Amino acid sequence: MFPAGPPSHSLLRLPLLQLLLLVVQAVGRGLGRASPAGGPLEDVVIERYHIPRACPREVQMGDFVRYHYNGTFEDGKKFDSSYDRNTLVAIVVGVGRLITGMDRGLMGMCVNERRRLIVPPHLGYGSIGLAGLIPPDATLYFDVVLLDVWNKEDTVQVSTLLRPPHCPRMVQDGDFVRYHYNGTLLDGTSFDTSYSKGGTYDTYVGSGWLIKGMDQGLLGMCPGERRKIIIPPFLAYGEKGYARGVPGSAVLLFEVELVSREDGLPTGYLFVWHKDPPANLFEDMDLNKDGEVPPEEFSTFIKAQVSEGKGRLMPGQDPEKTIGDMFQNQDRNQDGKITVDELKLKSDEDEERVHEEL
Ligand SMILES: *[C@@H]1O[C@H](CO)[C@@H](O)[C@H](O)[C@H]1NC(C)=O
Ligand SMILES: *[C@@H]1O[C@H](CO)[C@@H](O)[C@H](O)[C@H]1NC(C)=O
Repeated sequence: MFPAGPPSHSLLRLPLLQLLLLVVQAVGRGLGRASPAGGPLEDVVIERYHIPRACPREVQMGDFVRYHYNGTFEDGKKFDSSYDRNTLVAIVVGVGRLITGMDRGLMGMCVNERRRLIVPPHLGYGSIGLAGLIPPDATLYFDVVLLDVWNKEDTVQVSTLLRPPHCPRMVQDGDFVRYHYNGTLLDGTSFDTSYSKGGTYDTYVGSGWLIKGMDQGLLGMCPGERRKIIIPPFLAYGEKGYARGVPGSAVLLFEVELVSREDGLPTGYLFVWHKDPPANLFEDMDLNKDGEVPPEEFSTFIKAQVSEGKGRLMPGQDPEKTIGDMFQNQDRNQDGKITVDELKLKSDEDEERVHEEL
């Protein structure tokens, strides 16, 4: 779409009486219609030649839309097409960014709807036209297909498709989750699916690994539940989009099935005890009582704590790797063994740090 030029009779410049008349006429007869005398059209004529069966949302003033169009003159000659430029239009509608005919012609449209708009000159490029492209006083014909609609007031929309009867604990921030998903754009184009990767998508919720809208949309979910999550672009991939599949300013629709969830750990922790840690931690770890804890003793001790149900490791990671990392953290001088002076609980460390700062 060209930017709205300086039309000779823009809607705003019409005298108020005439404006009121236009509104009254539009309400009285439905949108747009040729004048009875066969003279120039007074309003946009809208021919809705394909209306999808489901239309959860209709375009309203101030919405952001993405659409494709072909523009032709009365004789069928093409003057412009979004397809030729290989980029569709992404714009706010109804606020004067488009020619008035287009602003009006898109109102009430559904995603995947196809319309033909006949735009009289005074709602298009007027008696001036557009240099080299549109002659003066041209009536314009647009074929439009709507691909997307959203508004900056939108929030994440969640609808539950299937909820298991029992749900001991629902997803909350920090949880480790495994889920399947199908991701599509609003017009039904698929852009990503977990099934193509041969396994569930595994991640932590609310830790910044996911787009914001997904972090929100997964909250409160039960294992076995299926949800539809609709995410506006400003909580997804924004104006830039993502790789080739997600265009800029696109609403994303996910169907998600939660396979499992596990409690996460507080940020920065690799292991926590369910209750208080052992009173004589170092002595308990030092299995052969030689005053040093090498990696094998450390690993044996931590695994025993886990298998006895006294503590748990960071979920979703290889336990060997996590235990190795924990050992590295404790072996402060990196000599391959932990001594009694080196061993420190993270909670005590954090406290000390706070004291130091005070
Ligand atoms: C525009 O024209 C192209 C080529 O004829 C066609 O494939 C496309 O569906 C048309 N788009 C609309 C919105 O009518
Ligand atoms: C994803 O789509 C496939 C194929 O249509 C379907 O079998 C599967 O159940 C869908 N998964 C979800 C989570 O909706």
